[in-house]
Amino acid sequence: MKFFVDTADVSDIRALAETGLLDGVTTNPSLIAKSGRRLADVIAEICAITPGPVSAEVTATDRETMLREGQYLRSIAPNVAVKVPLTEAGLAVCRALAAEGTKVNVTLCFSATQALLAAKAGAAFISPFVGRLDDISQDGMALIADTVQIYRNYGFPTEVLVASVRHPMHVLAAAKLGAHIATLPPATLRALFRHPLTDRGLEAFLADWAKTGQSIL
Ligand code: E4P
Repeated sequence: MKFFVDTADVSDIRALAETGLLDGVTTNPSLIAKSGRRLADVIAEICAITPGPVSAEVTATDRETMLREGQYLRSIAPNVAVKVPLTEAGLAVCRALAAEGTKVNVTLCFSATQALLAAKAGAAFISPFVGRLDDISQDGMALIADTVQIYRNYGFPTEVLVASVRHPMHVLAAAKLGAHIATLPPATLRALFRHPLTDRGLEAFLADWAKTGQSIL
């Protein structure tokens, strides 16, 4: 499973990229707004930090403007993936950008039939939002299961990018279902590293080691 980080905070992205475990980055208009920076500047900086796909989202809703925005975003760096909303216009733009060789991430997916349409439109990534479905008492992970199965049934190359991830149990469930990617807020990605028994065990090992008076180097 690949891990993307869902943020426009460059210092967090840099730190996580240094672990060697970061496969890409996703942003959205809310995250860009939170960064307080110009979209083109922040996307260019992120693209220079990671060679993986960096999703940058269009903000127009009509087909023509959305296509021009997508072409502009794609020109910022070779590893930009253009993010479009799952609307009729968004999928038409997905088809057009994919035909030009641009990777498209179709976002705001809340049903498996939407996911099916995105794959038919040539999306490189589909972003089903599990947390926002859970928030309204619908089963976000059932959407991942259905999407993975449908894509397997028809051999679609579109990767399932699990989005709106809120905690490590979402990651575990998505990995068991065979989802290709999870995009996680930095705190959730860091939570994957931690276990209280790891901390306690390390503390005990180091205390015993100190008693020996040795040093490895
Ligand atoms: C993914 O691409 C989205 O930016 C993100 O996962 C949305 O997450 P949220 O529902 O926590 O805002």
